[in-house]
Amino acid sequence: SEHNSIDQEAVIKSDRAYELGAIDWDSLGFSLTPTDYMYVMKCSQGQSFKKGELQRFGIIELSPSAGVLNYGQGLFEGLKAQRKQDGKILLFRPEENALRMRMGAERMCMPSPTVEQFVDAVTATVLANKRWIPPPGKGSLYIRPLLIGSGAVLSLVPSPEYTFLIYVSPVGNYFKEGIAPIHLLIDTEVHRAVPGGTGGVKTLGNYASVLKAQTTAQAKGYTDVLYLDCVHKKYLEEVSSCNVFVVKGNVISTPAIKGTILPGITRKSIIDVARSQGFQVEERLVAVDELLDADEVFCTGTAVVVSPVGSITYHGERLSYGNGEVGVVSQQLYSALTRLQMGLTDDKMNWVVE
Ligand code: COI
Repeated sequence: SEHNSIDQEAVIKSDRAYELGAIDWDSLGFSLTPTDYMYVMKCSQGQSFKKGELQRFGIIELSPSAGVLNYGQGLFEGLKAQRKQDGKILLFRPEENALRMRMGAERMCMPSPTVEQFVDAVTATVLANKRWIPPPGKGSLYIRPLLIGSGAVLSLVPSPEYTFLIYVSPVGNYFKEGIAPIHLLIDTEVHRAVPGGTGGVKTLGNYASVLKAQTTAQAKGYTDVLYLDCVHKKYLEEVSSCNVFVVKGNVISTPAIKGTILPGITRKSIIDVARSQGFQVEERLVAVDELLDADEVFCTGTAVVVSPVGSITYHGERLSYGNGEVGVVSQQLYSALTRLQMGLTDDKMNWVVE
């Protein structure tokens, strides 16, 4: 295909640079390292996406009246590429991200790439930036697809033009705690999503609207915020950037997907992995009171992977889990998932794409 011919050149350059050892891999956190190429594909309202191309990573031009800048018409995705010891590059369930973007695009009145276009574009972008994929065990290449209303509008209407863009960045751990347990604050005033709203899709505004609660909690020493449902104010929803699971004995419970919960791909994968290990997994309403006698709590997400929770503070009361140690179940599920993602165990579910 057209972009494959660009790939070859970019991949060869990328390979050489990696071999030269030009990058320091030991200080990766979750912040942007500009890389070599981004993928760009555009289409008009009412049309479908046709052909995109790799461009040098850099500044993009947008009209000040672009739909995304004025009315937030936009979505993002997140997935990772891993480098295996034998040099192979692995993606984890990329077609799930494509499908989720398509679902979100429908909700946000946008055209979206087909699953094939999405996965091809991800593959081309990863290969062109191959030198930025950390060595095994040092981190991964975070892939950030965007779908934005890039055409100019003034009144509240769907944008006349859309841009699908992918950029990538090498990353390490998401939370500053690294792999140590995180500390959450339940915010009883701020809610992340409402029934009938957009909480179940990955639209940009869902993330902008939690920044204040998140930064306020961080200023008080918490890692992040756990939100409750806005109707009853007593059921767990999710954390600013990830889903939540509660462990009690052999039962692992997580809030059911019902429009206000982001359908995480790591969430879905952990449910299957846990079931395959003999746990009973329940997707249902999970009451905040269940935190009182939980054995363990953990969060899941592409960026956070599986993050154990060390404490949750609710109405001034601090509930602690694991005495500073990572819970046994959290550790077991983290290992099972990351070993799969890194190509170290038999991929019975066919989740890994080379
Ligand atoms: C991800 O985990 O990939 C996300 O999209 C969450 C984001 C806030 C980093």
